[in-house]
Amino acid sequence: MIDAARLHGLMAGFLAHGATPDGGMHRLALSPEDGAARDHLVGWMRAQGLRLSVDALGNMVGLLDWAGPDAPVVMSGSHLDSQPHAGRYDGAYGVLAACEALLAVREAAGASGIAPRCNLAIVNWTSEEGARFQPSLLGSSVFAGLLDADDALARVDGDGVSVATALAGIGYAGRQHCPRPDAYVELHVECGPELERAGARFGVVTRHWGAVKYRLAFLGRQAHTGPTPMAERQDALLAAAQLIVAIGALPAAAAGVLHSSVGRLEVSPNSPNVVPGEAVLFIELRSPQPEVLDWAERAMLAAAAKAAAAARVRQEVRFIDRRAVGVFDAGLIALATGEAAALGVATRKLDTIAAHDAICMIPLCPAVVLNVPSVGGICHHPSEFTKPEDLELGAEILARILWRLCRDGLPAA
Ligand code: GLV
Ligand code: MN
Ligand code: MN
Repeated sequence: MIDAARLHGLMAGFLAHGATPDGGMHRLALSPEDGAARDHLVGWMRAQGLRLSVDALGNMVGLLDWAGPDAPVVMSGSHLDSQPHAGRYDGAYGVLAACEALLAVREAAGASGIAPRCNLAIVNWTSEEGARFQPSLLGSSVFAGLLDADDALARVDGDGVSVATALAGIGYAGRQHCPRPDAYVELHVECGPELERAGARFGVVTRHWGAVKYRLAFLGRQAHTGPTPMAERQDALLAAAQLIVAIGALPAAAAGVLHSSVGRLEVSPNSPNVVPGEAVLFIELRSPQPEVLDWAERAMLAAAAKAAAAARVRQEVRFIDRRAVGVFDAGLIALATGEAAALGVATRKLDTIAAHDAICMIPLCPAVVLNVPSVGGICHHPSEFTKPEDLELGAEILARILWRLCRDGLPAA
């Protein structure tokens, strides 16, 4: 169904916006590179005759409304933003494979003469990664009503630039309502090693892990690192170091069902000869079991209190973002499994520990995530790679799913 050369051509075209010479991608949310990639997508959507909507968060939807205004909307896509100096496929693959799948479905409909029963929408969600602005899944969370729009627009990056200002800066502070999906299918590279280790080429995500994310500050007293007596220091970074070690040790007590990290640390004033007055930690806890997540959060807070007392500093929680554990739609999982089987491909059922915008669609409509293998399980690194034949397979299965839904209509709820 799909045209593999057209898919690869489309993907190669978007590398102009943020590709790094080592094979990576640097396209932070709402940066000039993200703006250029968005402009490119707008050009493609217009050239294909899709109806474009951009909402207040900059979420972009291109609609092929070929089944009439009352027909259900089947949506597919992902995100064009990337982590800093990361991989080329995380997110962009899902958007561009959806573009190719839409073309393939339109061709299949034309060749068969069958009138489509669903409209097709392609989406690029704003700021999925949570690298420049937190939380992750920003645009899709607001779209789904899980996060207040004003709250999201007021979130600032490390330089104090708000989402609202950054959106206006690249011309994507939209005013429209994007069409709402009646079914949502997101294709993504796995970002983990399970498919490759199992020798599988295709996975369907049945469950997503929950997450608790804290921005926690230790506040000490800025002082000279030389003469200040050791017993009188209030070293915020010392407390941070102790907490980081404690957080890293938590998963050993819940092996296989808890992942933890401190991925970012902001130290002030960050001078070699100043006792740090402030250290801000970006903490993540992820688990498929709510009780494990609760336990880990309590253990982390106890460790923070202990570290603060030991270093004679104060602590302050600045943000908490939570995501509950959830499951994807059984009907779409079965449809994806069946379409893969028709191609002779076995489907492996997966959890996703990485977040995806599809998680936010679960309260709105049947939703699912499809995965193809990441070589070596590598993700959020410039060497992230998926074999061309696996990229094609994922897009082919996606196209077949979209065609089935357009041809047969959505199953009754
Ligand atoms: C993004 O990739 C996340 O999993 O938070
Ligand atoms: Mn992603
Ligand atoms: Mn990512």
